[in-house]
Amino acid sequence: MSLLERTRRLQNSLKNKDREESAEFLIDELIESLNEHALLYHQQGGSIISDAEFDQLLNWLREMESAFSGPVRPDSPSHRVGAPPSEGFEKVKHRTSLLSLGNAFNGDELRAWYERALRRLELPLDSNIELVSELKIDGLALSLSYENGILVQAATRGDGQTGENITANARTIRSIPLSLKSGGQKVISSLEVRGEVYFPKSSFDQLNESLASEGLKTFANPRNAAAGSLRLLDSSVTASRDLAFFAYGTGPVSESIGGNHSEELRVLKALGFQVNDHFLQSLGIEAVIDFCAMFAGKRDDLDYEIDGVVVKVDSLALQERLGAVSNAPRWAVAYKFPARESTTILRDILINVGRTGMITPEAVLEPVEIGGVMVSQATLHNEDYIRGKDIRIGDTVVVKRAGDVIPAVVASIAALRTGTERIWSMPSSCPACGTLLVRLEGEADYYCSSSTCPAQFMRLVEHFASRDAMDIEGFGAKLAVQLVTTDSLTSLDDIYKLTVDQLLLLDGFALKKAENLIESIAATKSRQLSRLLFGLGIRHVGKTIAELLISSFQSLESLSQRTEEELSEVDGIGPVIAKSVAGWFSESQNKGLVASLSGLGLNVAEDAPEGQDGDLPLTGKTFVVTGTLPSLGRAEAESLIKSKGGKVSSSVSSKTSYLVLGENPGSKAVKAASLGVQIIDETELLTMARA
Ligand code: IVH
Repeated sequence: MSLLERTRRLQNSLKNKDREESAEFLIDELIESLNEHALLYHQQGGSIISDAEFDQLLNWLREMESAFSGPVRPDSPSHRVGAPPSEGFEKVKHRTSLLSLGNAFNGDELRAWYERALRRLELPLDSNIELVSELKIDGLALSLSYENGILVQAATRGDGQTGENITANARTIRSIPLSLKSGGQKVISSLEVRGEVYFPKSSFDQLNESLASEGLKTFANPRNAAAGSLRLLDSSVTASRDLAFFAYGTGPVSESIGGNHSEELRVLKALGFQVNDHFLQSLGIEAVIDFCAMFAGKRDDLDYEIDGVVVKVDSLALQERLGAVSNAPRWAVAYKFPARESTTILRDILINVGRTGMITPEAVLEPVEIGGVMVSQATLHNEDYIRGKDIRIGDTVVVKRAGDVIPAVVASIAALRTGTERIWSMPSSCPACGTLLVRLEGEADYYCSSSTCPAQFMRLVEHFASRDAMDIEGFGAKLAVQLVTTDSLTSLDDIYKLTVDQLLLLDGFALKKAENLIESIAATKSRQLSRLLFGLGIRHVGKTIAELLISSFQSLESLSQRTEEELSEVDGIGPVIAKSVAGWFSESQNKGLVASLSGLGLNVAEDAPEGQDGDLPLTGKTFVVTGTLPSLGRAEAESLIKSKGGKVSSSVSSKTSYLVLGENPGSKAVKAASLGVQIIDETELLTMARA
């Protein structure tokens, strides 16, 4: 199809709001057409569309790019018009190009990449060569030139050949050394270090908050914040932004700093660079695949965004033999995590009443798959959020789903409006009980203030039974709705008064199931008191605060008698929590509930804290046991650990003190190694337990 035909089709799709095409597809098409038009114009002096048409297409592109918070393609023509500060930076030609990477999206594609490398090296296909897997930091590539140990130039990647000189800004980044540590070694006369500039997630939220409070435009994600901050013309503003840098390799060097990549990383660290600790050195590709899977699940635990794992052949000699194809090396590959964003249509906005009466607008979406999960609902936070982002019913919206976080609508794409979209406004009364909704001064949320609202009560029942609260087996959201709508429950204590006969009246209940549920309800009467307190759903009393309150006051009785002042004397209890707790216990309805729960036999007082086992040999240590141990069975090992004061966990995390490794261990060893968890064997465990 000719360029003109493709352009006309694209104009039609955008004008007629053709919802068949995804935003990503349209962005790609726009970039490609615009670049071809620009080339025609500049190189052949002719144009086949009018300037006005070109500008219209470019506007569409910029609008869609800003709504779609994924990275803007480096070849997007929007870079040329949208960023006047770039005019202020001098261009820098890189001495050797900053390459990009080929992608792999699953284990098989990683295996295929590895096999291609082995073939090229003329090695048998079952060979195991040394690989290094590193996190793929989602920021911006930066090249730093050091002459005789002094930072003389910092340049952005640009198109890989030519970047921008942003030395003044880079100098403000604390993790970029201005001069290198020599560590007793001879100073390297010329060294180019490459790595990624990023914006820590925690600082990103703060930055956006402060930008918003000044009425300034916020950044869509940490990557955009890093890019924006790095390209500010005023480096004193860059200095106030919390940018950071991870070094991941070298460019041209006057003398070698290592024979393989992992050695280079160690030397970079010794020279004073921040090098990411989570990397795996492995033989062969299988451990790499485990490492990728593990970090796909852990990416939300890190304080920086990662979008995949970069796998590199460790030996520089082998890297050299493998070489590169066009602009990507054959010796490295990027494993990309599944996308976390997608576009879809916002069908409607409903409001959800939470257990504290808080009202949250919820998006009803045309179902869309994000990272392997179908999403049909997402949060819209509050009214200001919807207004601020001009999100309308019928809009094409960008939906983001990150880990365990509830999916959220993050933007709308105004360029795709058809004119039939509707502006939403907050209803004036609660859809469940009709009470007028109120918005307290200075707060973003509306509340239903009724104490008898059935929607609030359903959520409270669901919360009370949930895993972190009373953990009643077989008691979920659906049952909460059934029980409340049939008036089987009108107060939380009614849960413990339910009978088999009552349950048999509900849809889906036969005798066995009803008996089991009554049994599991009864079994929760002895749950820890902090769970009960958390389950009561007192505003601002989360799990940790509930534990803190119980360890300070031991019983509901004693807690209920504390004044606001007494409560706020507890370290960790602020005035807002104190007020909420004292207020809750002062209401007669709640006093009645506590008395009734106690009368029904629930545990309402905690035993005095134990203080006996402080000096057992394994106190304070957490163990994970993996593989088959030579003499102890796993259960035996675990009970030994517990009897000596240690804790046993089933999965390795940064909190694990020791991994006890047996024969044929699984991926836990890889995980432990990547987290720097100490690995011991059975003999060492026995020695420690005896101490
Ligand atoms: S190595 C030839 N390692 O990913 C190898 N790149 O397409 C070149 N990136 O924008 C890069 N973390 O800046 C490498 N640990 C890492 C990385 C990494 C992030 C970025 C890089 C470039 C893109 C590669």
